[in-house]
Amino acid sequence: MTDKSEWQGQVGSSWARQWQRTDRSFAPLTERLVACALECGEARKIADIGCGAGELSIRLAAKRSTADVLGLDISVDLVAAASTRAHGQPDLRFAVADAANWRDASFVPDLYVSRHGVMFFDDPVAAFVNLAASASDAARMIFSCFRAPAENAWANRIAALAPPMPAAPLGDPHAPGPFAFADPGHVSAILTAAGWRDIAFEPVNFDYVAGDGADPVADALDFFSHIGPAARAIRMLEGEARIAFLGRLRDLSEAHLRDGAVRFAAAAWIVSARKN
Ligand SMILES: C[S@@+](CC[C@H](N)C(=O)[O-])C[C@H]1O[C@@H](n2cnc3c(N)ncnc32)[C@H](O)[C@@H]1O
Repeated sequence: MTDKSEWQGQVGSSWARQWQRTDRSFAPLTERLVACALECGEARKIADIGCGAGELSIRLAAKRSTADVLGLDISVDLVAAASTRAHGQPDLRFAVADAANWRDASFVPDLYVSRHGVMFFDDPVAAFVNLAASASDAARMIFSCFRAPAENAWANRIAALAPPMPAAPLGDPHAPGPFAFADPGHVSAILTAAGWRDIAFEPVNFDYVAGDGADPVADALDFFSHIGPAARAIRMLEGEARIAFLGRLRDLSEAHLRDGAVRFAAAAWIVSARKN
């Protein structure tokens, strides 16, 4: 589980410092997500939900020069990082806002996009009702989310290394967190209840690169110590247990070294829907 307060605090701060590496981990998925968003046609106003450090917004603003792009996120640190990256890019801005209750009469989106930013709502039906109400009548939505932990080696292999923890991401499958939208039936039910229709799921399998460069294993260990389930375990473990976990993490990273990078299998959905 990752809740709103964590994103507004330490987890958001870590992501703001690690955006080059998180963008790298999502790179093949981002290509497909951008293509899907562009296939939606000539949107004039695009809102990126849970935009984080802004890569998807920045990419779409560059491709769609006629569109206004607005990235929304609850993390002050991530919005600051996104704004710095996008400095000088016309028709692109970022705002600190909770998408669950955001509304702006001067910005009525005809396209919502999100790279893994919509699985953290406490009340997802209410949040998607709000997003529908805040959008134009012809609005479309394209977002990515992880499939099941069993299909995501980066998560299940790390979870298998750590002692069981109450807030581990492999707990309640529907609790707000990276895997809350893994089940298409659950996501369809949420979106349908919120008034969205024509809901479709495209599976995307990709290499999640955790480390590369001169010392890919050291790079992966540093990444894991800041982002994701290993970072959570490292924060919670102490003494010998922590040292042993770090050793197992190194062995795991070495075992996944291929073609100059530490790579793990990752599996996502790209979900599309329309309002009317
Ligand atoms: C897994 S990160 C993805 C960030 C970014 N989209 C990316 O791909 O790098 C999830 C993001 O959703 C944001 N978030 C979580 N709940 C939110 C909410 N209710 N409203 C807006 N943003 C939210 C977090 O702060 C975080 O930046």
